Amino acid sequence: MIISPRLTGKAAVVTGAGRGIGRAIAVRLGQEGADVAVVDIHAQSAEETASAIRALGRRSVVLTVDLSRVEQIRVMIDQVVEAFGRVDILVNNAGRVEIKPFLDVTEAEWDQTLDLNLKGTYFCLQAAARQMVKQGGGGRIVNMSSVSGRGGRADSSAYAASKMGIISVTRSAALALAQHGIRVNAVCPGIVPTPMWDKIDEDRARLFGYQAGTARAQLVEKVPLKRVAEAEEIAAAVAFLASDDSSFVTGQALNVDGGLEMD
Ligand SMILES: NC(=O)c1ccc[n+]([C@@H]2O[C@H](COP(=O)([O-])OP(=O)(O)OC[C@H]3O[C@@H](n4cnc5c(N)ncnc54)[C@H](O)[C@@H]3O)[C@@H](O)[C@H]2O)c1
Repeated sequence: MIISPRLTGKAAVVTGAGRGIGRAIAVRLGQEGADVAVVDIHAQSAEETASAIRALGRRSVVLTVDLSRVEQIRVMIDQVVEAFGRVDILVNNAGRVEIKPFLDVTEAEWDQTLDLNLKGTYFCLQAAARQMVKQGGGGRIVNMSSVSGRGGRADSSAYAASKMGIISVTRSAALALAQHGIRVNAVCPGIVPTPMWDKIDEDRARLFGYQAGTARAQLVEKVPLKRVAEAEEIAAAVAFLASDDSSFVTGQALNVDGGLEMD
């Protein structure tokens, strides 16, 4: 596929970009002409993503950060500014999921999920937006929600709460930051075969006695387009929201799920 660059000269930050959807987003932004800071808790996988971006002729730096720690997030944005001089695009992608029956979720599990998915997203957004306001010229922020953020989930209730919270934060930030020319949107993927989904499938098989692969197959049956997504299809939606092609779009949560959810 030939991609015409819409992000030439932009400085982007993608969190959780060491693998899965985050890696596909980071590479896509690089293909569109952006320099990309690859943020992940795992340095080695992040370095592989950064190498792929450098191979495109773009600049890339790796920042090893635990995004559930707010003090590390603040330093991370300073490091991006040190590397690229500015921040134009933030993609808040890092996330975790815990498959657990509702009655068994512990306080520690709740905190781990909410600290990364919701608190991490909020404070990355705040730190990047402060920089965007300071430098002037607006900005684009894309938060990774999920179809799980559109409703409840009996076996991943903390995750669903975090993803619904991300939609609320997206709307609040869009309202607060519009005056600065900063647009904030969310993407809600359906099923994307990544290491996260492998773990969901394994955990559901172990907890509920399914055969491995059954949980995913049952969900695919409910998808009108009758298939899972490629990570690159999620990345394409993120690139649209990060580009001027979406110049009049803010505060939205875009389902990229083959029609699974329609609200
Ligand atoms: N895979 C799907 O079907 C699906 C569906 C809907 C939404 N999502 C969302 O998309 C995003 C990416 O999902 P994925 O499937 O690529 O997940 P993944 O588990 O395959 O990758 C997540 C990345 O985040 C990094 N990460 C985890 N904890 C971190 C921390 N504390 N600090 C920094 N980095 C950390 C991991 O090292 C990994 O590189 C997540 O927010 C997820 O909730 C995924």
